[in-house]
Amino acid sequence: MTDPSRPRWVRWPRTVAGPGGPGPLAYGADYNPEQWPRETWKDDVRLMQQAGVNIVSLGIFSWATLQPSEDTWDFAWLDDVMDLLHDHGIAVDLATATASPPPWLTTKHPEILPVDHAGSTVWPGARQHWRPTSPVFRRYALALAESVARRYADHPALAAWHVSNELGCHNVHDYSDDAAAAFRVWLQERYSTLDALNHAWGTAFWSQRYGDWAEILPPRLAAANPNPTQQLDFKRFSSDALKDYLRAECAVLHRVTPDVPVTTNFMVMDGDKGLDFADWAGEVDFVSNDHYVVVDDRALDELSYSANLTSGMAGGERWFLMEHSTSAVNWRATNPAKPDGALVRDSLTHVAHGADAVCFFQWRQSAAGAEKYHSAMVPHAGEDTEVFRTVTRLGQHLRRLAPVSGTRRKPARVAVLFDLDSWWAAEQDSHPNASLDYRREGLDWYAACLDLGVRVDVLPTSRSFEEYDVVVAPVLHLVPAALRDRLVGFVERGGHLVTTYFSGIVDEHDHVWLDGYPGALRDVLGIRIEELAPLLDGEQVTLDDGRVGTLWTDRIEVTSEDTEVLAAYASGPQAGRPAITRRVPERGSATYVSTRLGAGGIAPVLATVLEHAGVESELPSALRGRVELTVRADETSEYWFVINRTAEDVDLAGLADAADVLLSTAGDEEALRSLPGRGVAVLVPR
Ligand code: GLA
Ligand code: GLA
Repeated sequence: MTDPSRPRWVRWPRTVAGPGGPGPLAYGADYNPEQWPRETWKDDVRLMQQAGVNIVSLGIFSWATLQPSEDTWDFAWLDDVMDLLHDHGIAVDLATATASPPPWLTTKHPEILPVDHAGSTVWPGARQHWRPTSPVFRRYALALAESVARRYADHPALAAWHVSNELGCHNVHDYSDDAAAAFRVWLQERYSTLDALNHAWGTAFWSQRYGDWAEILPPRLAAANPNPTQQLDFKRFSSDALKDYLRAECAVLHRVTPDVPVTTNFMVMDGDKGLDFADWAGEVDFVSNDHYVVVDDRALDELSYSANLTSGMAGGERWFLMEHSTSAVNWRATNPAKPDGALVRDSLTHVAHGADAVCFFQWRQSAAGAEKYHSAMVPHAGEDTEVFRTVTRLGQHLRRLAPVSGTRRKPARVAVLFDLDSWWAAEQDSHPNASLDYRREGLDWYAACLDLGVRVDVLPTSRSFEEYDVVVAPVLHLVPAALRDRLVGFVERGGHLVTTYFSGIVDEHDHVWLDGYPGALRDVLGIRIEELAPLLDGEQVTLDDGRVGTLWTDRIEVTSEDTEVLAAYASGPQAGRPAITRRVPERGSATYVSTRLGAGGIAPVLATVLEHAGVESELPSALRGRVELTVRADETSEYWFVINRTAEDVDLAGLADAADVLLSTAGDEEALRSLPGRGVAVLVPR
């Protein structure tokens, strides 16, 4: 594993600003010129200049065009595109083009195709149909990466390398024989002996004991619920297998062009897909992320959380928004267009959380193919559209924000932890409640912070949280001894810990901590739970202060003199027993919430903790909850990003009076006092 305290992401792609001081923010898109005739390319660069585009990601799905057969290469068209872009002042984040193998390769080597858990082949016809552990695929892909790298090593347009594309988006869990062989090697490294593996996997259960490494398989389709530790280790292995592939491409690129930074686009909100990006972050020279807004009541909070978490993965350093959408996507059941103001607000929310690049999928909306109804910077209807006018306006906004480039996020006093092992383990099968939603609970706590007007940092558990005043750990289900010790130490030093139902239950092998839940956190919380008592879908319980809980309850006993009951159940099987507890030792505190309260129900709990910790909102009371505040800073300046979370005008008086205005999407700075719905202002406090 990479040491997360020593990030490598110190190198940033060159944009048109050239050397000397921070350049302007990067702005652009995935550019797929191979889908268009050459006449269109000229129109593309004209419009890119008009929009203020200064970087594009090129060649992502170009393998079949660059290498039409095993022995034929065609770089001429890409040479022309690179030259054309450079002539128009546009830098290139050049893909290694390995994302989607061409038909000749899968015809010649069908053994690179992934296999699903039921043993069916995943056929070509879409994209990313390759086994992460296939030595044959790797040989061809690395040869392509090397050819691309050598060809363009000295091209003046080259600003960065883009490894593959969204590694693992469609192929992370492959159950093939290649995967089985690689899984065994990974397990031997992890456990050394079969005895250790048999213990970790609890194979005394259901007669699963292994007598030979060769007997071990990926968790393929089984007669009943497969071994949970085997499932968890297979998730960890699958992420590591793609990390290993990422390393292999990075090694080629760093060897050929040691000075060109390398990235790959993460999907930090898609932890359920099975990729541990917090762990991968140490492999790249700068962190990139893709984000697509969800379509539900949490959309805006989810957007902010995603950007915030990406910053956490990047250690607070600037990062690259590699993809988002100007408007609709094509891959949900219904794909609504974005309402007015959302395009700019969504982009600037990422910048507010440390993105120094705003890029879209994609530049020109495809006329053919599976993504023809996905929005782009240039829509089907062309340049005479509100989308393109807005895109051009966004380019102007980003130029005004040039001073922000290179600044870091100013740490908040409150952290919400993001723990992928807990997400994976808590949502496995055969559990008390299959409706448990790790991401949703985390978002509820995050939203409650925003509703209270309090700045918060989302942090992977592997990053240092010790310096925060308040640490919220929703559904921290899997707690190894080392993490338990960190949390206990945090409270002992005066920190305020908040956690929820189904936390502290298992260790790193998914073995239950015995002698009463929440085993690992029992002492620090000063409670003991005899039995978990989840609720049926639609079932509700009432707390004695009128709040409503869903999803979960516990049969809680208070075991420590310094633990108080903040709220008790007033209805349901646990009526009269504690629902929310808080242990208050001499310093610090540890709060436990045993039911799902939703953001509205969480806010009063959080307010109590924040008050105890002395954390106050930096916003005037009239603005709390209505705007989101983030702060980026360097040694000399602070930049306050104020994002209107509502669709109505918001009066910024009290905040803007003591600041200069760097940007207001209201356009007219006089209009700043009234920030329009979905508007964003960037203020420089005086
Ligand atoms: C992903 C991919 C892109 C494109 C978009 C569409 O992010 O990386 O190639 O398919 O989804 O939303
Ligand atoms: C069946 C099986 C048991 C056990 C239970 C679980 O009854 O015979 O071994 O798995 O289901 O409910």
